[in-house]
Amino acid sequence: MYTLLPMKKLVVFTGAGVSAESGIKTFRDSGGLWEEYDIMDVATPEAWHRQPEVVLEFYNARRKQVLESEPNQGHRIIAELESHFDVDVITQNIDDLHERAGSTRAMHLHGEIRKSKSSINPNLIYPISGDKIAWGETCELGSQLRPHVVWFGEEVPMMPPAERLVNEANIFIIVGTSLNVYPAALLVFHVRKDCKIYLVDPGDPIIPSQLNITWIKEKAGEGMRMVRDEIIKV
Ligand code: OAD
Repeated sequence: MYTLLPMKKLVVFTGAGVSAESGIKTFRDSGGLWEEYDIMDVATPEAWHRQPEVVLEFYNARRKQVLESEPNQGHRIIAELESHFDVDVITQNIDDLHERAGSTRAMHLHGEIRKSKSSINPNLIYPISGDKIAWGETCELGSQLRPHVVWFGEEVPMMPPAERLVNEANIFIIVGTSLNVYPAALLVFHVRKDCKIYLVDPGDPIIPSQLNITWIKEKAGEGMRMVRDEIIKV
């Protein structure tokens, strides 16, 4: 007698570290972006009001780097896990490397660098064909286009659906995030009691001590290989 069983739900929560092996800079590591730039100058609504052209230039550079990068082994293993599990990716990253690696469901908490949006109506979102949003480029309502990213001080509208996904997970894997930025860092607290939690990060993320987390202190590619080998044999 065979019983039809649903696939286990796997939720992967990623940060800048998953894209580091693709050559994209993280934010808080030594040599990271926030050493080179002040958050207040490029990633806040105040910066946008004060010096929009500087903000556009900062994100144009990020977009160019993303377009020149390719997914790495970490992204690919996460995508391949869809053959074994019902997988959802929740990423803090604005790059599209999960999608290009083949992940079919990637939720972007902090927006998407390859999209622009109206600066007066956040529902007007457009794909960007090249690598730039130019000063003077406008939405259909005539307002300047801005990057479709979440700035410090802005709401994170994808949090409630992300929390719901985490609450459905049988396995939750955190990859390459310092767990420094809120509310995203609180997602892990939405796991159910019986959920198995892994963390793949070679650095020193802020690990919540109240949760039982298996930490694999490796880079994303190697760490995800180790996690995959463990979870697909169970
Ligand atoms: P951080 O730069 O804060 O953290 C990067 C993490 O990646 C660190 O814990 C590193 O140890 C780890 N790391 C470095 N190389 C790695 C590798 N090869 N494999 C795996 N892990 C590696 O980046 P995030 O935690 O993603 O938000 O930052 C969260 C948010 O802060 C970003 O989404 C961005 C930023 O400011 C906004 O801009 C709104």
